[in-house]
Parts: sequence; structure tokens; C-alpha cells
Amino acid sequence: MDRIAIIGGARLAGEIPISGAKNSAIKLMAASLLTDETLRLTNMPRLADTRFLGKLLQRLGTEVVESVGEDGPETLLRTAEITSGFAPYDLVRQMRASFNVLGPLLARTGQAKVSLPGGCTIGARPVDLHLKALEALGARIDLHEGYVYAQAPRGLKGGQIDFPFNSVGATEHAMLAAVLADGETTITNAACEPELIDLADCLNAMGAKVSGAGTPVIRIQGVGRLHGATHAVMPDRIETGTFAVAAAMAGGEVRLTRTRCDFIQALIDKMVEAGVEVTPHNDGLTVRRNGGLLKAVEIETGVYPGFATDLQAQFMALMTLADGESVIKETIFENRFMHAPELARLGAEITVQGGEARVRGIDHLTGAQVMATDLRASVSLVIAGLAARGETMVNRVYHLDRGFERLEEKLSACGAQIRRIKGDGEGDED
Ligand code: EPZ
Repeated sequence: MDRIAIIGGARLAGEIPISGAKNSAIKLMAASLLTDETLRLTNMPRLADTRFLGKLLQRLGTEVVESVGEDGPETLLRTAEITSGFAPYDLVRQMRASFNVLGPLLARTGQAKVSLPGGCTIGARPVDLHLKALEALGARIDLHEGYVYAQAPRGLKGGQIDFPFNSVGATEHAMLAAVLADGETTITNAACEPELIDLADCLNAMGAKVSGAGTPVIRIQGVGRLHGATHAVMPDRIETGTFAVAAAMAGGEVRLTRTRCDFIQALIDKMVEAGVEVTPHNDGLTVRRNGGLLKAVEIETGVYPGFATDLQAQFMALMTLADGESVIKETIFENRFMHAPELARLGAEITVQGGEARVRGIDHLTGAQVMATDLRASVSLVIAGLAARGETMVNRVYHLDRGFERLEEKLSACGAQIRRIKGDGEGDED
């Protein structure tokens, strides 16, 4: 298994182009199941997760073609016919977002059998809201031996979906199913993350009638069929925030391009409060820190536009070098501090109690062997390694490959001393 070795201490200088958003791309790919025409997605990130979903879609009948267009990588998806409505356990377990094929399969063919995803390292992550949303659209749902059997023989019907709290995945799932339902659907207490707007824009380009995405009330007028379209995947706000924190942690000046800073305003506010210089521009933002001491600040994760849980680990890494004690509250997932003990291996002083971590800033981190159990935790260790004295070796790099495109290449182009060591498969973990 591959590892990433980082020699800390190099300041970063240069430009990093941000890729298309992983968490949007995989839902957009699922939308291709809703039409027999071609969905062309441009600004596509090339990631383990998008490749993985591509394989699942191929099993369901989608033709998936990756190419490079005028504006970079793109993917053409065409599901002339759904040849199977079955998503097996092995595939859904490996990537939870695979579960989102359930709604489109049901909407297009009236039936589907999709494995329940099970828990994961950051929390239990149930899918009850997804299933209630489909039931509100008239689907009959049965759970049997770890599988969801869903049926709507006479098609889905528009309905009222009232979520008790915000769920990004369940809102997206409801939207993916309701676009082909007969009649109007209203979703209240909908998640407002920018990925919802991206999905709605893509579905509307395919002929759907979705309004209100990005607000707590989404209305969908069902249509009889959707057609092909071209849609550019939105920039990855988590990749943007991750490199912003990396620049702050290592010091120097990095310009992040092909992205938007309004998507990460909550992070920017906290970085500025901590003493980092952030300058927005048309195409993204520039992050600058020239040696000044970082100030400890408190953060609490929340739904958009709050502080993204997917940036919590990275910000914790930054706070390990701040002056004073930072309190970090995680409110979205119940087990999302797995990076804390790994950061401690680099010398960080962190105590975790329930959903709260206290980080006492220290003078410097020291390189060590580390590994993490999820994507964002892994990248927080890379960021910490950029500032640590000596060598940090990050194991289990496959987590990073799931969600960060050419991470080492992008960082080393800015002067980071980072390299991938190819594994021989022997003696590695996992
Ligand atoms: C999405 O997960 C993202 N994943 C996550 O990013 C992100 O952390 C999360 O949204 C929050 O922003 C993808 O888009 C693929 P939720 P999702 O449903 O949709 C509970 C990453 O690193 N809940 O908004 O699964 C749930 O357990 C990943 O890229 C239920 O109880 O998140 C959680 O506590 C990690 N029942 C809360 O809601 C349900 O049916 C919010 O989860 C659904 C969710």
C-alpha cells in the first residue's frame, strides 16, 4: 500500500488549481440513471470514489466514458437502459454514496434492491431519512437481510417530505427521486449545502423543474422524462479549504484558483481571527502567513453556511501550533476525532471528551509515522506534516486518493517536500 512521506519546514509559494467537487460529482453521476440520453459532466475530478461509482453504474447499465475536453477532464454517462436494479453489499459498503442510486433506479424503473451501507468510522450514519423520503413519494420499502427492497410499480407520486433535521444525502436523494415523480413535491428543512444547488442546476439542465435548492424549502414539479445535458461540476470547497489551511500551517503565500471563497466563508473568518491573511479574488483566494504567531480560536461545526465538519480535522491540525487553547466542537458526526491521537503522535496536545476537543498549542510538531481512518483525518496529518520538524510518513494513503486529486503534485508544485512511496503490498496495514 502506498505511503506519503513529507519533510516538514518548507514554506509554500505558488498557485493551486482546485478540482471539481467529489461530493457533488458522485451525486451528479447518479443523476445520469434518470435519462436514456447522455449526461456530460465537465470539470470532473479523477478520484478513487468517482472511478468506483463509475464501476457501479456500469453494472446497472450505464456506459461511462472518461475523456479530456477543452476545459479539462470530463465524463460522459449514458444509461440507454437500466439492465440491473441491484447494488450489492460489497459495493455500497466500500462507498456509502453508492446508496444514492436507489432513488434514481426507483424513479426510472419502479424497483430497486440496494444494500444498506452500514456504519462507518466517523459515525453510525443511518439512512432512515432517505427511506422516509422515498416512502413519502409513495415507494414501498422493505428491509430484508441487509438490503432495501424498494417498489413503486405505478411510479412515484409527488409528496410532502418534512425532514426533522438537515441531511445533505437525504435531501439529495429525495431530489433525485422526486424529479420524475407524478405531481409536485415539497421538501422542508432541506439541507442548504452548495452541492444541493449544483445537483438542482444539473437536473434542471436535464429538463427537471426544481426550485429553492440552497434554501430550506425545495419545490419539485415532476416531469415525465429527462433528457441529456452538459454540466460543469462545482469547485471542491473542501479541497479549497484544505489547501487554505495547508498554506496557513506551512507559511508562505498560495493562490487558490478555479474556485469560490464564499463557499468557505466560515473557515475564512476563523483563519482571519487566528491571524492568517486571506484575500478573495474573482477566481478564488490567496492565503498568506509570514511567520506571525497563530492565535487559538474556537470552532463549532455546523450545517452550511456553518463551519464544515469536513474541514474540522484540518483546522485542528492548524490549532496544534496556535498560541493558547482552542476548543473544537463537532456537532455533525459523533466519532469524528480519530485524527486527534494521530496528531498527538506528532507531539500535539489534544484532549477529547465527547463531541469536544481541546487543543493546547505548542511550539513545534515533530515528524512521525501516522495513519488515519478516513479521508479528511488523513489530509489533516499531511497538513501537520508540512509544518512538523523532520519526516512524517502518512500510511493508508488510499483514503486520500478517494477524495484528493493529485494531492502530492499540487503541494510539491508550491515547494512542499512531499513524495509518494509505492507499496509492495507486503507488510502493509490492512
Ligand atoms: C455528506 O454526508 C458528505 N458526504 C460528508 O462528507 C459530509 O461530512 C456531510 O454530508 C455533512 O456535510 C457526501 O456528500 C458523499 P448527512 P451525508 O446526511 O450526506 C445523520 C467526506 O469526507 N443522518 O448530512 O452522509 C448523520 O448520521 C464526507 O467527504 C441520519 O441520522 O451527511 C449525521 O449525523 C464525510 N439519518 C447527520 O445526519 C439519515 O438518514 C448529517 O449527515 C441521514 C443522516
